[in-house]
Amino acid sequence: MAERSRPRRSGEHRHRLRLRRLLLLLPLALLLVLLAHVPALLLRSANSLGRRCLPGATGHPLLLPRPGLSLAIVTLADEGAGTRRSFRGVLEATARNKRAYAAAHGYRLVALPASAVDPSRPPSWSKVLALRAHLRRHHWLFWNDADTLVTNPEIPLERILFSVIGHSDFDESPDLVVTEDFGGVNAGVFFVRRSEWSKRFLDTWWNQTSFVQFGSTRSGDNAALKHLIDHLSPEEKQAHVRIAKMQCLFNSYPWILTWKSALRLIFHLPTTWKGVYSDGDFMIHFAGLDDKPGWTKRIVGEIGTLR
Ligand SMILES: *[C@@H]1O[C@H](CO)[C@@H](O)[C@H](O)[C@H]1NC(C)=O
Repeated sequence: MAERSRPRRSGEHRHRLRLRRLLLLLPLALLLVLLAHVPALLLRSANSLGRRCLPGATGHPLLLPRPGLSLAIVTLADEGAGTRRSFRGVLEATARNKRAYAAAHGYRLVALPASAVDPSRPPSWSKVLALRAHLRRHHWLFWNDADTLVTNPEIPLERILFSVIGHSDFDESPDLVVTEDFGGVNAGVFFVRRSEWSKRFLDTWWNQTSFVQFGSTRSGDNAALKHLIDHLSPEEKQAHVRIAKMQCLFNSYPWILTWKSALRLIFHLPTTWKGVYSDGDFMIHFAGLDDKPGWTKRIVGEIGTLR
């Protein structure tokens, strides 16, 4: 009898111990969950904590945009339509957002249909062809990947451009204005100016066939752009390419807690800080995020209530 009841009693005892340990761990787990939200909250408040993405001095006469400058936002309106239904909502919402912004500032919006996509390469390569085709019609083209939204429509493109270039002499201006993230130059959002140099650069970019990749999340166009910029001579780079000091000037990424983003926060804090999306930023880019429809809906809701 005694022999048989002992294991049961010790079993109950063990159960009670486990319960007590769980009760002790509960506040600890809660604390960890709360701590995990702190970086997200702080980063989202980067601008109110003193970060400056767009330099001031907008009233300075030298920084005023040249009147009559023609700008166009170029984007893909139909990427993967029919194949990935969830992406359709993203395209519709972001195109609506760009259309409203372009109309408010007098820019043209070039939203490319599926027919503009060259089927011989992954769709994101077609930005090069699209920009090449529209280059002669405008002074500046502003390329936007489909997973981007204008989050601060008060900021005109001219102000962004002139904050990077520093003067308003159109003919003496660099030709390519980009931002950098953890991986270097980002090909998702950038400006290209109408010039002979830009024409040649876009042709050369398109000609980087060895970078074309199928069947992965990378299509190779970004790697090819990085390669081309990295291999310019210092003089050519200085004359034609500008990399914005702050990624958040026109290409902010939302921050969510993952192992990768946590490690980047620790080891690349300045890069995270310069590029993280914060309230008041000009443009959000859902680069590398899985739930693009969810993010689009959330941010469209947020900016809708801001105004
Ligand atoms: C790109 O490739 C085409 C076809 O091979 C060639 O005719 C053209 O000169 C190349 N352009 C540049 C800028 O390299």
